[in-house]
Amino acid sequence: MPTYEIKVNGESKSVDVSADTPLLWVLRDHLDLVGTKYGCGIGQCGACTVHIDGTAMRSCSMTLAQVDGKSITTIEGLSEYGTHPVQEAWKEVDVPQCGYCQAGQIMTASAFLENNPNPSEEDIKNAMHGNICRCGTYNRIYKAVEKAAE
Ligand code: FES
Repeated sequence: MPTYEIKVNGESKSVDVSADTPLLWVLRDHLDLVGTKYGCGIGQCGACTVHIDGTAMRSCSMTLAQVDGKSITTIEGLSEYGTHPVQEAWKEVDVPQCGYCQAGQIMTASAFLENNPNPSEEDIKNAMHGNICRCGTYNRIYKAVEKAAE
């Protein structure tokens, strides 16, 4: 089995699992980064969102071979001590209810704001629209993204 090299949260990691292993399971089962969540496993819910070379992507739908040589950021590496502006806004607005989808929401929001630091309300809704929250915290999510952009 070939070894794959990925950079995760700034550290180089060698991973020795089969090429078609979803990145989500590499992160959770092999690198013990369990902040990234499994929701649907088919790219539909956004719970597994991470940044790959700065772009928000669904880790359940990317294989290890597809991310070989790439730089991955998970919720654990977004900031030291949870101080990214999106994380601060999340706390201020008290967004989570059960909390399960929140890492994915935050990773989507942070990549979005990187590319669009002054979004309209509609931009925010469009950007966050693919991340499902079963508790229905959408209004607080939108408010927090707006606050993070201030
Ligand atoms: Fe990846 Fe739902 S678990 S999109």
